[in-house]
Formats: sequence, C-alpha cells, structure tokens
Amino acid sequence: MSDDANGFTRRRLVAGAGAAGVGIGLGGAGYLIGRETAEDSTHLGETVPFYGGRQAGIDTPAQDRLHFAAFDLTVETAAELRDLLTEWSHAAAEMTQGKMVGNNNNELLAPPDDTGETVGLRPASLTVTFGLGPDIFERDGHDRFGLRSRRPHALRQIDPLPGDLLDPEHSGGDLCVQACSNDPQVAFHAVRNLARLGRGSVVMRWSQLGFGRTSSTTRSQVTPRNLMGFKDGTRNLRAEDTEAMRRFVWLGEGDDVPWMADGTYMVTRRIRMLIEIWDRSALLDQEDTIGRQKYSGAPLGEKEEFDPLDLGARRNGKPVIPADAHVRLASAEDNGGAQILRRGYSFTDGVVEELGELDAGLFFICFQRNPKTQFEAIQRRLGSIDALNEYIKHTSSAVFAVPPGASEGGYVGEGLFS
Ligand code: HEM
Repeated sequence: MSDDANGFTRRRLVAGAGAAGVGIGLGGAGYLIGRETAEDSTHLGETVPFYGGRQAGIDTPAQDRLHFAAFDLTVETAAELRDLLTEWSHAAAEMTQGKMVGNNNNELLAPPDDTGETVGLRPASLTVTFGLGPDIFERDGHDRFGLRSRRPHALRQIDPLPGDLLDPEHSGGDLCVQACSNDPQVAFHAVRNLARLGRGSVVMRWSQLGFGRTSSTTRSQVTPRNLMGFKDGTRNLRAEDTEAMRRFVWLGEGDDVPWMADGTYMVTRRIRMLIEIWDRSALLDQEDTIGRQKYSGAPLGEKEEFDPLDLGARRNGKPVIPADAHVRLASAEDNGGAQILRRGYSFTDGVVEELGELDAGLFFICFQRNPKTQFEAIQRRLGSIDALNEYIKHTSSAVFAVPPGASEGGYVGEGLFS
C-alpha cells in the first residue's frame, strides 16, 4: 500500500467528488440525489490502529466497503489454532497500517508473500475484526481442541427463528474475518491474504462482499440509505454513547469468561430483499412498513430525522406508527429494553436464477453482549410479525465471539490460551 515501489501517485484521490450530491430535485420533495456533502465518507488516507484494548471495526466509524469471510478449521490442536491467530493478527496489523504482508516480496524466484493488489493504494481506514464460532469449543458433543471449559458463556448456535430460509453452506463457521475499508480492493486484499496465510489450517466456508454501509456507528457520520431507499441507522447505538455501549455491547470484567472482557458477540444475517415486490409497492405502504418517512427519515407523524419516535401517538383512533411497523417492533421500548449495535452493508450477488430477480439486500451485522437476549429476542418478534417480512428473506446466519483487542506484539484471542 504505502510501500509503492514505483512511486505511483495514489489513485482515487477524487473518489469523494463522485459521491457528492448532484443536486437533482426529486419531484416536489426536492431532495438531493446522492450523499449528503457534509461528510467525506471516503477517508482514503486514514488508518485505524489494529492494536488496542478492543478490536477495531465495531465502534470505530463504519467504512463504506466490506469483505466478510467465514472459515472452517482443518487443524486439530489448540497450538495450531493459536499459531494461526498469531499469524493472522500480525498480518492484519501490517495491512491496516498500509504495509505489505511478510518480508519476502522481492525475491524473483519465489512467489511474493503479499499478493500485491494494494501496492499504490492507501489503507482507507482498513479494519480487520476476528471472531470465534461456537464449534471451536464443541462440535457434535466433541471437545475438538480441549477448549470447552473456556467457552464464552453466551456463545451458542442461534436457534432457528421464524421465517428463516437459511442456506447452511452459507452460514456458520469456526472463525470469521470482517474486513472493512473505504476502498473495496483493500478490504478484498485483507481477506485474500489472510486466507492465503491460513492455507493448510483453514478453508473458506463462505464469504460476502458489501457496499454502502447501512448504519452509522459515530455521531460524526451522516445516516446512509439501504437498498430500500430508507435512511438506516438513525436510532442505532453510537460509539459516543459510552454508557449504552457498556450496557449493550462491550463485555466487562465478570460478565462472561474473564478472557472475553472488552470483547463482544457478533451476529451476521444475509437478508435478501424482494426488491421487485418492494419497488411495486406504494410510497405510503413503504413508509407504513418501516414506520418512518422515506426521504427525511423522520418517524411517521414527525418532521425531522432525529425527532423522537412516539410509539404512543394516535390519529383517528389508530396508531400513527402501525402496530407491525419495523421500527416499532425493533425498538427497545417494544423489546423489554434490548438494544444492539448495527453495522451492516448492502450487497448484490447477481441474479436469483429461478426467479430472474436481483439477488440483493442487507448483510446485517450486529454486536451485543448476549446474542440470545438481544439479537435473537428482537428477531424472534420481527420474524413473526414485522410488516417487512413481505419483502425480505433471511438466507444466512452466523454467530461469533469477538475477543478483546490485542496489545502490540500480541494476538487476538490470546486470552483463550493463557
Ligand atoms: C433487510 C432487512 C432490514 C431492513 C431493510 C431494515 C431497515 C431499517 C430501517 C430503515 C430502520 C429505521 C432507521 C433506524 O433507526 O435505523 C431500522 C431500524 C431498526 N432496525 Fe432494521 N432493518 C432490517 C433488519 C433488521 C433486523 C434483522 C434487525 C434485528 C434483529 C433490525 C433491527 C433494527 C433496530 C433495533 C432498529 C431501531 C429501531 C428503533 O429503536 O427505532 N433490523 N431498520
């Protein structure tokens, strides 16, 4: 990346210009098409430290691109797993700082350690976040690595949920790598090089590319739109809400197994949108389905995006926000207080062959202290009665324990072995 051997100037310096609003009026509403210009979402020159008490890629500002991969372990001992996590952490630290992986990149008679496609690119806020799947601690009743006694308490497979149409081959996994960057090639490079380093120890089980973050994780970011055209992330938790982040996202001392303090849990769901059906539904139906106005993002009955969500408001004897609206059913007020940090991405994977329809939607990622009482509890209700169900299908699911960050020279997951 910054080791640009040929001294090329960085490409895409003007990428931000393409993302700016182009000022095309949208009928009477007069909204701009394109991103709000208040924020330069590209941050191509920025780096995010890999080392730290908590892993990056959770409450650090959500970047615009994702390459997510889940791997199955083919090694058989805890020592081999530890070696892999050590090597991966070291390589991730180098890549996030814009360095090439490995030392052997100039030997003419050998394949270079680094695959090379980021030479000349900047890290663009690359973060690499690692997670551990439940099968590491026990698979089919078998303690594969002798680590059963160290299993994070809340790490359990996600139970089948209402409306699930999951593809098992595109679900689960022993390990995950979430690579986020504002340059898609940088995110791809991270996953590719970790997969390469892991050859002989892991096989890639499934992977997912994402574009266009669908939530904001800090107050400095504007709220993006998902592929349904709605602002997504308005009432998300934010890094600045330190008290709420401690309550809902970060594990503290004594919350779980001791080595998970400052860690969290990640749930991923690939949610296909039935875009053709959605696109044929009236604006009124779309807004009733979500419970917010499409262009402003304001709650129904309100004016501005961040106006309070008044779930008790009624007009002509009916709730202003319908009983089955997504925001009502997903809200903490309606879920016994449960909240999650959302950090998902839009995806498009070509065409669903049998239907001739776009295979596109939301690759939902969320972080929480306990998947069962947070994600699962919310999704159990959403899956049964959310008006949005008419327009979506959950096709993949996975859960991972996300250990705390590594200190300089250490590795992610170190506490598991000490
Ligand atoms: C394709 C599927 C989905 C779409 C299109 C979608 C879209 C949205 C939109 C537009 C909002 C309103 C803006 C905001 O506050 O962020 C929202 C809110 C929310 N969604 Fe989703 N969502 C989806 C799936 C999910 C899932 C699977 C969950 C969790 C199980 C979830 C949890 C939430 C939560 C917690 C809120 C905030 C509710 C509030 O307190 O106001 N969403 N979603």
